[in-house]
Amino acid sequence: MSGNSPDEYLNKNRGKLFHPPDSFTKTTRLNDDSLYRKAKQDRLSFWSEMAENLHWVEKWDQLLDDANPPYYKWFVNGKLNISENCLDVHINNGLGDKKALVFEGENGDSVSLTYSQLLKEVCKFSSALNKLGVKKGDAVTIWMPMIPESIVAMLACTRIGAVHSVVFGGFSPDALKDRILDSESKVVVTADGSYRRGKVIPLRSAAEEALDECPSVENVVIVKRTGNDFKLKEGRDLLWSELMETAEDPFDPVVMDAEDPLFILYSSGTTGKPKGILHTTGGYLVGVKTTFQYVFDHREDDIYWCTADIGWITGHSYIVYGPLSNGSSTFIYEGTPDYPERDRFWELIEKYRITVFYTAPTAIRSFMRWGNHYVDKHDISSLRLLGSVGEPINPEAWLWYYEQIGKSNCPIVDTWWQTETGMTILTPLPGVTPLKPGSVTMPFPGVEVDVVDDDGKSTGPGQKGFLVIKSPWPAMLRNLYGDPERFEKTYWEQYPGLYFTGDGAWKDNDGYFWIMGRVDDVLNISGHRIGTMEVESALVEHPSAAEAAVIGKADEIKGQSITAFVTLKEGVEGNDELVQELKKHVSKKIGAIARPQEIFFTYELPKTRSGKIMRRLLRDIAEQRDLGDVTTLMDPQVIASIKEGYGAKH
Ligand code: PRX
Repeated sequence: MSGNSPDEYLNKNRGKLFHPPDSFTKTTRLNDDSLYRKAKQDRLSFWSEMAENLHWVEKWDQLLDDANPPYYKWFVNGKLNISENCLDVHINNGLGDKKALVFEGENGDSVSLTYSQLLKEVCKFSSALNKLGVKKGDAVTIWMPMIPESIVAMLACTRIGAVHSVVFGGFSPDALKDRILDSESKVVVTADGSYRRGKVIPLRSAAEEALDECPSVENVVIVKRTGNDFKLKEGRDLLWSELMETAEDPFDPVVMDAEDPLFILYSSGTTGKPKGILHTTGGYLVGVKTTFQYVFDHREDDIYWCTADIGWITGHSYIVYGPLSNGSSTFIYEGTPDYPERDRFWELIEKYRITVFYTAPTAIRSFMRWGNHYVDKHDISSLRLLGSVGEPINPEAWLWYYEQIGKSNCPIVDTWWQTETGMTILTPLPGVTPLKPGSVTMPFPGVEVDVVDDDGKSTGPGQKGFLVIKSPWPAMLRNLYGDPERFEKTYWEQYPGLYFTGDGAWKDNDGYFWIMGRVDDVLNISGHRIGTMEVESALVEHPSAAEAAVIGKADEIKGQSITAFVTLKEGVEGNDELVQELKKHVSKKIGAIARPQEIFFTYELPKTRSGKIMRRLLRDIAEQRDLGDVTTLMDPQVIASIKEGYGAKH
């Protein structure tokens, strides 16, 4: 566990509270504790009232069915369509000409779509999917750059009731294949390539083999973004532009049940196989609409920018569904913050007059290191609210963000949540909650969270424990796709009746929550989840590797970086060339984000007598700490030899 520990906090920040700045409270939608009070009085009627803000074709007849835990149902028998709630509803309310989506490409090309224009595109792609035979309940995989078509494709799926599975564009074709096979997708939507730091990263052509090995795929739809060459496979591959030419508009939204599947999003767990986290329609939209509205203090004139990729849950909930269901203007950028220069984000904030900016601590730490002069070149005074997500933010980075980016005028909402939770769970309300740098503050109204010890008992202030959610919430995952056993085991068996988050945390005397990071074998690399076992399985698939143990080593910028300890097969020599080859191999199997920063060869891995790899000891060695208890080791010599060898290299 890393994150902000009780001692660190108490030493550095005793008594420091940041109240919402006056300039902010003057215009905020909420500056009192009425929402907390309402939810506390009656949690379920709070959610019922929030759900009334959506457009329901038929109202639910039971708010929460908790008769068969952990298989909870929300808004039972309610009927609605997500794209209708994100588009048609606003147009009917006179917002047709308001910008829904504002896009800038890495090359500086720019497009914006009003709500009416976005609806037209979504209808056309819905009709195209429909003509390809995609029906309610079918799965569609989306493997795309950050371009408007990606969002059109997602919304079109929701319009026809198809279940989308968005795969992060940075994942490798091998990883894409595993996810297509698991979801049995009928259609894959992709592009010829994407721009990244001035280069073209091929997508469709790189996935040639992967796609050929997916028998469920009937069609592949390709957006031409970069002009990168690829071979159209006759009878299967189709161009987005050609499909859209003959597509029809309007296209009526399909009426969905509140509990119909909405999307699957694969996320890393503690085994080599990613989990297909399944979200459903009604509860998810109620959760993300409500949290977006209050956490980001939605105002009519906001230009809101969340820097995540749509391939992650943050992109789903707070680039697409949260902002659009509220009628906000959501900005998306294709590129990275450091290309062509390290002031790219500040340039964009100035150009588009961004008002709300939501990013990750790893990015903030990079900005900090690059220096204030990149920020100072630009007028970023349009900002009124800042957000952070994905990993614990250290108080230094928090303060830099507050002072240099927010100019001490913008509250920071540090939001803790997960792919599984669908919506923010621990978060300040920006006009209400006094902030403590590094704390995710309190549960969102209507959500019940606690920190418990090994026996599931609530811990006292300052005592470290495990973060749990005590009662169901609307946007919660409903299952792991095709694997209910793993669903029950991962989240619900640790503490009966409580949802186990996998995070360590503690509460302070004021009831503020402090997140310490994962307590399982899941790494957090630049705010992205990677399972140690996933990287280990990729490594041992290489013909030279016999066994591998992967750990996350504390990293100043990324939070954690990957270190791998590898034993080689008999007769194989561990040299620098092999290190490079193994790194490349992991990138190919999973994607560049999983590429180990360092690989260390050892004759044996430290194991308990029952054969379990003791990653904790490897972490201690990598982070140059004294080793804890080594009495359970099968062969204590191993650890001495790794320590010596690893130490010699550092
Ligand atoms: O460890 C927590 C960390 O990210 C994990 C969830 O990862 P993922 O499902 O990929 O979703 C990330 C974006 C919602 C959590 O278990 N995490 C997320 N937000 C925070 C955080 N850790 C500390 N502070 C946060 N604000």
